[in-house]
Amino acid sequence: MQSQCLIDGQWVAASDGRTFAVTNPATDEVIAEVPSLSASEATIAVEAAHDAWPAWRSRTAADRGALISKLAHLMRRDAEQLAQLMTLEQGKPLAEARGEMAYGTAFLDWAAEEGKRLYGEIIPASVTNKRLLVLRQSVGVCAIITPWNFPSAMITRKLGPALAAGCTVVIKPAEDTPLSALAIGELCMEAGIPHGVVNIITGEPNALGEAMLNDSRVRKLSFTGSTEVGKLLMAKASKNLLRLSMELGGHAPFIVFDDADVDHAVASAMACKFRNSGQTCVCANRFYIQDGIYDRFVSKFTTLIEQLKIGDGRTEGVHVGPLINNDAIAKVEAHVDNARSHGGTVRLGGERTMLKGLADRFYAPTLIEKCTADMQIAREETFGPVAPIFRFKDETQVIEHANDTEYGLAAYFFTQNASRLMRVAEALDYGIIGANDGVPSTTQAPFGGVKHSGFGREGGKYVMAEYTELKYVSWGMVPV
Ligand code: SIN
Repeated sequence: MQSQCLIDGQWVAASDGRTFAVTNPATDEVIAEVPSLSASEATIAVEAAHDAWPAWRSRTAADRGALISKLAHLMRRDAEQLAQLMTLEQGKPLAEARGEMAYGTAFLDWAAEEGKRLYGEIIPASVTNKRLLVLRQSVGVCAIITPWNFPSAMITRKLGPALAAGCTVVIKPAEDTPLSALAIGELCMEAGIPHGVVNIITGEPNALGEAMLNDSRVRKLSFTGSTEVGKLLMAKASKNLLRLSMELGGHAPFIVFDDADVDHAVASAMACKFRNSGQTCVCANRFYIQDGIYDRFVSKFTTLIEQLKIGDGRTEGVHVGPLINNDAIAKVEAHVDNARSHGGTVRLGGERTMLKGLADRFYAPTLIEKCTADMQIAREETFGPVAPIFRFKDETQVIEHANDTEYGLAAYFFTQNASRLMRVAEALDYGIIGANDGVPSTTQAPFGGVKHSGFGREGGKYVMAEYTELKYVSWGMVPV
């Protein structure tokens, strides 16, 4: 387990010796102490990334791709240990942590190849003595700020394309889950990625964030996290007019029409809602079920939720782990209490599950019926294992409800009618649509939101635009 920060290829502690504790959310045990770096140490990391940039961007894309592939290979070699480390610091069930390792590594595989396809263009000129060239070049030093819910994949999703494009990076992982990030740093060094190209700093988010955003050598911020923090960072990033990629909060509707395949819809609802104990930005947060299928859907959904096993993620067979911290469970409790007080019927769960020898941070998988638009849960992201059910009558009405939110990350709907499928997909104001699909996230496809869910796209060929600038060269030709 690596518990120091990576700056310019060296493993470093804070110069004043300050550290903070990383704990297992399932047990409250302290797993490690990691450095609480100061703003001036973040500046040293930026300097290292800036100094490393000219040589890194001058390499061929094939050469950079080979090093990214080597990193992917090492992550696959160590996948089991990395998954165990992730479960230890994040709490997610081991099977999910293993899945995240595969998901995260695939972003590196993709980027290693995609970097080779950063084609420019030659535009036909309107005069004969000019050639108009468009080049795509790396943005420069990128600040990468990542969340705790996917401690590994949210780093590789940004790191892979940044490196492939020729950028260098300073990564600031979430305080709850720095160990997975530092482990990736170790593998970067083993892969032979040159010193200074990848730097990883840990510590107090405001101080480190400000140091990076105030430094004019940083040219880009890529952030995944809450809308609230995203807006603060965006305001600070305006000082140096940084390029931005913002993957922020969600509030996904999950609509089941009468003509859906009910078993498929229920299985998809389970995967969509309870992945990572409901702690994903793309989790279904509101279930809209049409009158004619309502009873069958709710009855089958209830049966499957009852079978979920809650516990320490390290125990084989556990489906739902702890929530990440006390604020997270307090928010879930507040949403459920508010739904109850507004007339919601809690059919399953609705309280903490107390488990012998474990922390009191486990929330029982919960299903609430009779939900209404005036509840907090109908307007805000819950980030927990709670499924609020709303009943609806017709398509126009449900689309209005689904779109009546400031968020626009992911939306899901289930129908077997092909015309409805395209009509509804087009009408939902979201960046990602799962049409008969509860888990649309994948390496090849663009991932990102609209409205207060942010902007920019990660994944597929689209992500490369986030880490490159277009440069126009007007080439005047001397007459013969
Ligand atoms: C997220 O919750 O931020 C990412 C989820 C995903 O990649 O599917």
